[in-house]
Amino acid sequence: MADKIRVLLSEEEVNRRISEVAEVISKDYEGKEIHLICILKGGVFFTCELAKRLNVPVSLDFMSVSSYGDDTKSSGVVRILKDLDEPLEGKEVLIVEDIIDSGRTLAYLIEVLKQRGPKSIRLCTLLDKPERRVKKQVKVDYTCFTIPDEFVVGYGLDYAQKYRNLPYIGVVEQ
Ligand code: IMP
Ligand code: MG
Repeated sequence: MADKIRVLLSEEEVNRRISEVAEVISKDYEGKEIHLICILKGGVFFTCELAKRLNVPVSLDFMSVSSYGDDTKSSGVVRILKDLDEPLEGKEVLIVEDIIDSGRTLAYLIEVLKQRGPKSIRLCTLLDKPERRVKKQVKVDYTCFTIPDEFVVGYGLDYAQKYRNLPYIGVVEQ
């Protein structure tokens, strides 16, 4: 049976907010180049929409990590499934994530990426669920939306690999 999905953030709301955040980021990085790191797979829709709206030079790379199975709970174990293609030496790195939940994925990733000598590292997320944070040291520089502790799908986010293609953010009603 098809799951019922309640709209939490409409496509228009999400796109409008991404434009606002892109404007802030473009100002912050004026005169610089941004090396965007998209965290696959969830970050891919947000990364594209954000990148299109930035008006500073942008380069892109992709990384895939796993911290979740087909479940809604964090395993606490982070594995690199696909590493970056390019070195980070001297680059202004902006990590682009779909959602920060426990913060385990990013706490680990930031430590790994710091070792590679970027000039700076910042973090940008479409969604943040601060109530769920376990790794309090994870500092989010740019957040589009802070949401309550509900499991969401769409705009890149999946439930058992489904619903990533929804153009809005929704909650799967059980
Ligand atoms: P963290 O390591 O607990 O912060 O989890 C981050 C990852 O968990 C995200 O990149 C998502 O892939 C996944 N995740 C966390 N919450 C949700 C959710 O509400 N919907 C879909 N995926 C989620
Ligand atoms: Mg996921």
